[in-house]
Amino acid sequence: MAPRIPENLLEDILGRLDIVELISGYIPLKKAGGNFKANCPFHQEKTASFMVSPERQIYHCFGCGESGNAFKFLMRHERMEFPEAVEALAKKTGVILPEHDNPEAQRAASLSNQIYKINELAATFYQSNLQAGAAQGSRDYLLNRGIKPETIKEFNLGLATSGWDSLINFLRSKGVPLSFMEKAGLILPKDAGGYCDRFRNRIIFAVFDIRGRIIGFGARVMDNSLPKYINSPETPVYVKGKNLFGLNLSKDFIRDSDCAVIVEGYLDFMIPYQEGIKNVVASQGTALTLEQIKLIKRYTHNVVMIFDGDTAGQIATLRSLDILIDEGINVKIVPLPKGMDPDELVRQQGPASLKSKIEHAGSFFDYKLELLKSRYDINDAHGKSKIVSEMLSTINKFDNAILRGEYTKRLSEEINLPEHYILEELNKLRPGVSFQKTDQAGLQKKQSEINPAEKLLIKFMLEEKDLIAKIMQELSPSDFQDIRTAKIVSVMQELVLQGKNIQPSLLMNYFSEDDASQLVCETMFMPDLSEQEKEKAVSDCITRIKVNRLKSRREHLHLEIKNAQLSGDEQKLNSLVREFHNLIKKGD
Ligand code: UTP
Ligand code: MN
Repeated sequence: MAPRIPENLLEDILGRLDIVELISGYIPLKKAGGNFKANCPFHQEKTASFMVSPERQIYHCFGCGESGNAFKFLMRHERMEFPEAVEALAKKTGVILPEHDNPEAQRAASLSNQIYKINELAATFYQSNLQAGAAQGSRDYLLNRGIKPETIKEFNLGLATSGWDSLINFLRSKGVPLSFMEKAGLILPKDAGGYCDRFRNRIIFAVFDIRGRIIGFGARVMDNSLPKYINSPETPVYVKGKNLFGLNLSKDFIRDSDCAVIVEGYLDFMIPYQEGIKNVVASQGTALTLEQIKLIKRYTHNVVMIFDGDTAGQIATLRSLDILIDEGINVKIVPLPKGMDPDELVRQQGPASLKSKIEHAGSFFDYKLELLKSRYDINDAHGKSKIVSEMLSTINKFDNAILRGEYTKRLSEEINLPEHYILEELNKLRPGVSFQKTDQAGLQKKQSEINPAEKLLIKFMLEEKDLIAKIMQELSPSDFQDIRTAKIVSVMQELVLQGKNIQPSLLMNYFSEDDASQLVCETMFMPDLSEQEKEKAVSDCITRIKVNRLKSRREHLHLEIKNAQLSGDEQKLNSLVREFHNLIKKGD
């Protein structure tokens, strides 16, 4: 729960900062009563629904729900990670962060910085190799592959020549110790002792992180020898599966078009990008990882996957599909014929052809079903059952019941099987749909509408710290039926116990999920009440929440009674019924 950076420092930073000043550095703010407003920078709108509160030091958009404190604003607007936003604002306010007196963290940070610098040097070396007179053959190779000279520059493409130690000698001349070259993954120890360059006689692709720093390299042969590519090993700055090739260049296009096209290879990124299809990223030849998907989610929730038509590509696509759907991403697929990839498609048929394929991308459903039909015999009962179970494992990942319903219906039509068989199989996969599984408190917390009483109480508690202890004498966090309100209340309670500050702008540093902090901001912009009204409202809210608590306990008991009846557990049944009657007596 606690952020890694000590909260007194976060408090210190926020205390020295004015969110109005910070935000007005990005968008024009207009005074509106005690607050400021603007057209929301996070969604398209004509009337201003983006509010900034100087008093609370938070912002909230009533149009799109985006909200938070100064850190969050930077994270969203500048697309920084939390630690980066903290670092930036610490610098701005002159707050010194602990890394500076923690030698271990400092060493790690400085090793990473060294590696970025060495990579930068290596990249300039490789680039100049590619521009040298002797490298005409390599330049021709790239030109033949449709890569224009401007693109070679834009992507920092380079060449590792055939020497065993050209890079070593170059880096040594720049004063880089061998041990650092090794840590950067650029050289390899030789059996006979000493080192040699890792990449030789290959085209070099620099791999950038989202902030444009070079984290590693990919190196391709210029003929048909194997392995086709050699990549940097994992280093402190290059962790496979955490990065997407090209995202540093394409992120704004992805955000503006609200769609990311995912391809596999370096060239599959570069050629479409060069030809004007800019909202692309490359997975570098593997199934997407959760971390990569989270990166994409910063910019869009819509993804089109174009993977090679070969078996490896299909397997990668299927695996990625499930994770994408699990993460709530709307995913479509462009199937390509075997042996064809986006790079070739653009060169053979032009960018318009790829564009149109992207526009007409199909749903996961058709793609996966086609694939399964080619693998299993649809006319055979076993084949059918295989197809159903594999389709359902993906359909089951949709949170939305309507979508699940729609897909099961289509599946039943497509494979000519009555729908109830399919639903029966789907139900086997879905835990907690029957009344056999309710959690301890019977609280199946809802994610949709929040009881206004819960929202109001949160607002009051945030405004008046003394109310927290008072309210917590009557209610516990689990009495709040919504997952977000329950979380906020439990964090507030904990902070009060620890004698900590619960200012809204600080509180939200404790929520990793967006919706809890969004709720905090939303309640802060709810209309204020007079002292008298407030007192009455507090007691009304408490009563309402208690009534709900009773109701949900009753519902829970009701389910348990049904279960006991089903399992014929007389003793349990009797005690449950007794409990139920007691509860009713207490009544509303
Ligand atoms: P592909 O084999 O599809 O190659 O691998 P490609 O990108 O189309 O390359 P060209 O068109 O033949 O030049 C897709 C991606 O998988 C990774 C690379 O990132 C590559 O771009 N890969 C592939 C490797 O890392 N190592 C390999 O040996 C092969
Ligand atoms: Mn290719």
